[in-house]
Amino acid sequence: MQSAIYPGTFDPPTLGHLNVIQRAAGRFDRLVVAIGENPSKVTPSFSLEERVQFFKEITDQLPNIAICSFKGLLVDFAQAQKIDIIIRAIRTIFDFEYETLQAQMNRQLGAVETFYLVVDEKYRLISSTLVREIASHGKRLHGFVPAEIEEAVFQRLYHNQT
Ligand code: COA
Repeated sequence: MQSAIYPGTFDPPTLGHLNVIQRAAGRFDRLVVAIGENPSKVTPSFSLEERVQFFKEITDQLPNIAICSFKGLLVDFAQAQKIDIIIRAIRTIFDFEYETLQAQMNRQLGAVETFYLVVDEKYRLISSTLVREIASHGKRLHGFVPAEIEEAVFQRLYHNQT
């Protein structure tokens, strides 16, 4: 059985993330969506529990997805899960540079391989940071986050600012 891990901060999950999950889930027997922490980012707007719940709602129809959170190094989590393939998404050349450094370091640290998926053109401009910014100014998130969680994400981000 071939499994892979799709890790990220997912603060919050976007349609771009969901698109990657759908595509990766079609290529592997099992896909573990792993919500982690990026120490160089600000404190997340959504708790780990909230992000896990968001993913449960949006991946409800996909049978081969597991949702997990992890702390510490990604390679340690991958080893604990006995999975040696990481999926990452590439939007731009800047992602490629950054992801390549991460992939090389992860390979050195834990013998995991990183597979890149090039994001669908429709989602190239989306990021979780932009989603947070748009909602904080009162604009709705249609077309940016999955419909199932759109209202909850908007309400939380908008009311946190007001
Ligand atoms: N569509 C749209 N946007 C996408 C996307 C897609 N398909 N894929 C990524 N993005 C965006 C995300 O929304 C995010 O935007 P943001 O910066 O505005 O939040 C950005 O691209 C990439 O962030 P993310 O995918 O969350 O990854 P990350 O670089 O924050 O890394 C971890 C998160 C958890 C994978 C990483 O920090 C990690 O491995 N942490 C554990 C510690 C560790 O092992 N470090 C590595 C040592 S080499």
